Amino acid sequence: MKDFQFIDSHTHILPAMDDGAKNVEESEQMICSLKEQGIEEIFLTPHYYSHKESIDKFLKRRNKSFQDLKPILDHYDMKYHLGAEVYAIPAIFNYANLSDLCIEETNLILLEMSSPKSDPEHELNLIREIYARHSVEIILAHIDRYPFMLNQKTLKEFVKLDVYMQLNLDFLDAGFFTKQKHLKYIKQGYVQFLGTDCHRITDKQIPKIQKYRLQLAAKLTAEELRSIH
Ligand SMILES: [Fe+2]
Repeated sequence: MKDFQFIDSHTHILPAMDDGAKNVEESEQMICSLKEQGIEEIFLTPHYYSHKESIDKFLKRRNKSFQDLKPILDHYDMKYHLGAEVYAIPAIFNYANLSDLCIEETNLILLEMSSPKSDPEHELNLIREIYARHSVEIILAHIDRYPFMLNQKTLKEFVKLDVYMQLNLDFLDAGFFTKQKHLKYIKQGYVQFLGTDCHRITDKQIPKIQKYRLQLAAKLTAEELRSIH
């Protein structure tokens, strides 16, 4: 059976940063489980809420958390890139520069749309505004969480803006229609990133990562798999 590697592009593994890992011990358990299931590289993407905290304060907290975790990452030989999951609200325009929130050494910013129930036009306008003001590229986080993304016409409005898209692996446990739709989006080349969005070691999907990898490997062609980072 063919297998494939991808970066876990969405994690809350950094300890004591947000509603993710509570401490270094829990982070270690999560890294150990990911590694055992074939994940070699992760983005570290704690939530960033611009209406609650300045970017500087967030970066200071993130640096402290990262220093605590670095020996563990090294011990497990896990490749990593610091980043953030940036909540998409107008308060981000209080900052002239968003580059510190990008995935390290890239101009990619993982953006969490404001609500699964929001008007997609509202989200599209916010993205347009970010692109007008900043030279970043957007990865839309967990597009599987937003029912409006199941509408292909709506999805194409986002595609037109040249955003990258990320799916949470547990879309594979969704109902038939939803699952097929997201597989189709991968096949159509609209999805470039996969992630666990793992928060806690108790997350139900953590022990299933290997199963999801094999399912995707079975359902997608070698060429389709290559379009995933
Ligand atoms: Fe997340």
